[in-house]
Formats: sequence, C-alpha cells, structure tokens
Amino acid sequence: GSIVLWVALLLGLALGQDTRVVNILDPSTSYNREVGRLLVWVMAFAVLIFGVVTGALTYTVVKFRKRGNEQGEPPQFHGNDRLEILWTIIPTLIIVIIFGLTAQSMIANAKLPAGAMTVKVTGYQFWWDYEYEGLGIRNSNELILPVGKPVIVEITSKDIIHSWWPASLVGKQDAIPGVTTRLHFTPEKEGIYYGQCAELCGASHANMRFRVIVVSQEAFDRFVRGAQNYRAPEPQDALTRQGQGLFQQNCAACHAVKGTAAQGVIGPDLSYFGNRTTVGSGLWENTDTYLIPWIKNSPGVKPGSKMPPFAQLSDDDAKAIAAYIKSLRIEGLDFQGLPQF
Ligand code: CUA
Repeated sequence: GSIVLWVALLLGLALGQDTRVVNILDPSTSYNREVGRLLVWVMAFAVLIFGVVTGALTYTVVKFRKRGNEQGEPPQFHGNDRLEILWTIIPTLIIVIIFGLTAQSMIANAKLPAGAMTVKVTGYQFWWDYEYEGLGIRNSNELILPVGKPVIVEITSKDIIHSWWPASLVGKQDAIPGVTTRLHFTPEKEGIYYGQCAELCGASHANMRFRVIVVSQEAFDRFVRGAQNYRAPEPQDALTRQGQGLFQQNCAACHAVKGTAAQGVIGPDLSYFGNRTTVGSGLWENTDTYLIPWIKNSPGVKPGSKMPPFAQLSDDDAKAIAAYIKSLRIEGLDFQGLPQF
C-alpha cells in the first residue's frame, strides 16, 4: 500500500507542472556565492574523509580476511602513538580550516553595503506583505526590487513562526511574531525568483510561496512612481464595473485597493493585482483558470486559507471580480520574458 503511495507521489512530482529546481549553487548574489564556496570546501573534505575511511576499511577487510582453514583470532595489538596523534591532528586541522573559511564568509556576508534600501516583510498564514521603508508603498506576495541595489530585509510575523526564503538570492530567515530578524543581499541578475516559506506553519505551509522580481532600476522607478501616485483605474467595461461592485460588497472588508473605499488589512493588498505574475501567494499563474476557483472557494484550493468560501457567487460573478482585480495595475510594468530562477 505505502509503496503504491510513494510511486504515485514520485510520479506526481515528476509529472507535476512546477518542475522548477531551485539551485543555490547558481547564485545571483554575493551571499549565495559565499555559501557555494563553503559548500565546495566542505564537500571536498567530506569526499576525502569518505575515501580514506572506506579505503582503509576495504583494505582491512580484504587483506585480513579468513583464508583457507585458518583457526582462531589473528594476533591482537593495542595502541599506536604515532597513528593516534595523526588521527587527532588531521581532523583538528580540517575543523580549523572549515572554521576559518566559515568565519571569513560570515564576516563578508555581515558587511552592510552602503546605500541599502529597507523592506519590511511580514508573514501571515499563508502569505507575505512587503512595505518599502521611506517610500510609503506596499505590495503583497511579490517583492519588486531593483537590480544591483543592496536591500535590507526586516522580517517579522503577525501570527506564528514562518521563514522567508528566496533560495537563489539569500539564506532563509525566520519570521517570528514580536521579533524583527534581518537579512541583506544585493540581487545581481534581473529575473523572477522563487521563494518559499521554510518553517512548518500549518496546512498550507507548502503553499506559502512568493516571488522576488528583480527589475532594472528604470522599471523599479516606474513601479515606485506608479505605486506612490496610484489611483485605481476606473472600470472600462460592463464586466469590470460589475466586478467593482461585487468586490466592494464581498472583498473590501479584508483587502485594500489604494485610492478606493476598500481598505481592509486582514488579507493581501490588491492595489496592483493586475501586475502580479502569480495568485494564491505564489501558488499559480495569474490567469482566470486559477483565479476564479480561488475567488469562489479559496480554502477549497489552498487548505487552511483564511479567505472564506463565497458560495453565493456565481461563476459569472467570480469572472467579473477577476476582471476587476486584473484591471488594477500600474501601466508600463511588464514582467513577461524575465528569466525564472
Ligand atoms: Cu509559513 Cu510555513
């Protein structure tokens, strides 16, 4: 029974849509370059030790095996000063070297680069909020950053412990209620980076994902200007207008849309939802295929989601709401064609 389950699980993983492999050894920041360098050294020592130990073991087993009709134990001996000194000194040296390399990397990574911007990250079951310090803007689930500019990330949580981890950019850092933890890094390559909550936090821990979208300084400035001066665009067609009304009735108590009556703070900020590449906190592509079931029955597609199911909404109602929130966008921002990491 359990074998069938495992085979099904592995097949599911093999055939699943999201075949992304997050690779911390293909680093896009100085932080992960240091981690990669340490990993290579530690692996080299591990391979060396493995080779010596298994080599000695194999040699001993083969050389001192029982031959023909040999009887009893072979000669026994105890103690060998030279050998014991050697096998104390060599591991000590290896540990000292690894310690030195680690300290070097930790010091390099601890250095706070000048001119960093600060983003406050807040974890919620099961999504992320981003507030740009000093810019007066926020966004949810997708963190937009300029390439080549150092960023300090201040991380906390509003409910239980989460962990913020965009693996190709920087190491993971816990999000703890009442505590602020910090990370800093400089993204060096434009692209859409996959992120994942890395601390077991409930039914949708695995579904608590996010993206870090690294764009040119020019595109970032366009985002900041667009967000600072944002006025939700007026609906341009009947469907979007119907969606606007339904949104105010059903969604505005929990979600905020800048420049409208919707000022809820319980769920993600949807001010520029039309610019998002994903829906459900980085779970699916931002298309109607995923958006409509999400609007109608969020906990049905993402276990533990705090957004209640809206059984009273028809498919057409959900389509209208989807049209409305997709119309909420900053013009001139396009993330299509960015490489994915
Ligand atoms: Cu949040 Cu796991």
